[in-house]
Amino acid sequence: MDNQILRLEDVSYAYRSKDPRYVLRDVRVEFRKGTMYAVTGPSGSGKTTLLSLLAGLDVPTSGKVLFRGTDIRETDLLAYRRNSTSLVFQSYNLIDYLTVRENVLLKGPCDPDELLNRVGIGSELWGRSVLKLSGGQQQRVAIARALAGTSEILLADEPTGNLDEETETSIIKILTCCAHKDGACVIVVTHSSRVCAAADEVIELSTINKAVS
Ligand SMILES: Nc1ncnc2c1ncn2[C@@H]1O[C@H](COP(=O)(O)OP(=O)(O)OP(=O)(O)O)[C@@H](O)[C@H]1O
Ligand SMILES: [Mg+2]
Repeated sequence: MDNQILRLEDVSYAYRSKDPRYVLRDVRVEFRKGTMYAVTGPSGSGKTTLLSLLAGLDVPTSGKVLFRGTDIRETDLLAYRRNSTSLVFQSYNLIDYLTVRENVLLKGPCDPDELLNRVGIGSELWGRSVLKLSGGQQQRVAIARALAGTSEILLADEPTGNLDEETETSIIKILTCCAHKDGACVIVVTHSSRVCAAADEVIELSTINKAVS
């Protein structure tokens, strides 16, 4: 398919531990541009693991992650991570000793004030250390940072987990806009029925994952 951008081909993954156990087994799934996906499943079912493979932060134990038809291991992984993907982590991964604005600028040249306005972070917070923000505010700064730049793939791990309904609604709008207006492939791990309702496709991980958890 023309607008296919990412594909997992028979991907299996086991963490290298004393007692290796498959978290993902024979996962086959395709993702297209201009589409927002919600990935759901119980805690521990491998959602974050799946995102880290899609982001090129880790490689499958077997099988392939294909970006535009090419195994990402055969491309410049660092360039793939830097130029093609944006990630909002489950734990926000903000840099403690930097301000809100500096955290957004980490991703590269952008207009941090416009991005922070978009996620509803008022100007009184822009110069503040991120340590002095609430959990929901930190999450929105992490989303603003991910929106900086022009990545074709936006990966978010429970981006609305700590947010009230109103803020969740605004984040859902931003995510759907990235897919439908900017043409990005947006993949959101979520437990939120509202995020699922806004997605073009909902992927229940257990239906594509043959590993038993
Ligand atoms: N670094 C690690 N080493 C070993 N096992 C791990 C590691 N990280 C995660 N796991 C295990 O892999 C399984 C899948 O974890 P993962 O974080 O992908 O789940 P999840 O679906 O994101 O869960 P949650 O909804 O709680 O975030 C879990 O059983 C977890 O304990
Ligand atoms: Mg997780």
